[in-house]
Amino acid sequence: MKILGIETSCDECSASIVEDGRRILSNVVATQIELHKPYSGVVPEIASRLHTEWIMTVVKDSFKQASLNMYDIDGIAVTSRPGLVGSLLVGLSFAKGLALALNKPFIAVDHIRAHLYAPYLEYDISYPYLGVLVSGGHTVISKVTEFDEMDVIGTTIDDACGEAFDKVAKHYGLGYPGGIAIDKLSEKGNPGAFDFPNPSLHKGDHRYDVSYSGLKTAVINQLDQFWNGKDEKSNKNIAASFQRAAVNILMLRIKRALKDTGLTRVVAGGGVVANSLLRKELLALKNVETLIPSMSLCTDNGAMIGGLGFHYLERGIESDFSVNASARVQAFRKKYP
Ligand code: KG4
Ligand code: ZN
Repeated sequence: MKILGIETSCDECSASIVEDGRRILSNVVATQIELHKPYSGVVPEIASRLHTEWIMTVVKDSFKQASLNMYDIDGIAVTSRPGLVGSLLVGLSFAKGLALALNKPFIAVDHIRAHLYAPYLEYDISYPYLGVLVSGGHTVISKVTEFDEMDVIGTTIDDACGEAFDKVAKHYGLGYPGGIAIDKLSEKGNPGAFDFPNPSLHKGDHRYDVSYSGLKTAVINQLDQFWNGKDEKSNKNIAASFQRAAVNILMLRIKRALKDTGLTRVVAGGGVVANSLLRKELLALKNVETLIPSMSLCTDNGAMIGGLGFHYLERGIESDFSVNASARVQAFRKKYP
């Protein structure tokens, strides 16, 4: 089965054709980064308007790259949640219209599950595993037992991890997108230059939850007094110390969840998994099989949508045309253990 995957939840306008949930025949990603750069963050209205302008070309290019015509596909998958509603609606409405015109089945998929599906496009993975989704909008630790069975055991109680990277970078004018800029600056910075807090959420239901707003505020407040925007060295040290602390927060919960659940496999996805330190730490986990996507499949892309969509459509599971977009994460949190 060849599935067209469409992704417009944030600032990447992407379409991809994936065969049998594994083989990427095309993956076109048109990024809006340059157009949001002047604002140091994604402006929702600009994002949705750009998706409206770009989507037709992006989808057509995905067919061209795969050397297929529109009738060659067996179904259409599209992100319906979570994300910026205006942006999601562009992809969702486009997918519905195309499905109707081609008389093909259509499925709306969850962006968080799709990020965790991304490594399946490159590796053979078995269940169960500890799913670690770290992006600009979400930080979710989950126990995944099937392609659509996911018990969320930890989330952020405030800012998402990528959001903290973006906000710290914005505050110090380090560059945009913040995560990439901080990662690069950190290469030559001293991670021990500043000692930032690691919030101790460790009781009861919060055992695997993370918090980034305290770290973000500490970095911004404490360092303003030391900071001199013209001093390259202090920028590098801020970046490296913050990155070290941000990764520590996450790794502590991951290790705790692995120990408690007895899981021996970690599958990670999302834009922040492109971070060099986080990748290193995840791959260094002892007695654990770690699977992380290559860089281009960490950030938003249509391939992870088409790949995941295949599993629903293969089982005859389709979405109703009344399905709507939602900004929220699906309520699939369970207490664990
Ligand atoms: O998954 P994604 O493309 O979009 C969302 O679903 O949010 O993730 C984007 C996030 C941004 O916050 C960006 O700063 C972060 O991923 N990011 C990184 C790196 N590359 C992208 N964060 C840390 N280090 C990186 N190398
Ligand atoms: Zn994403």
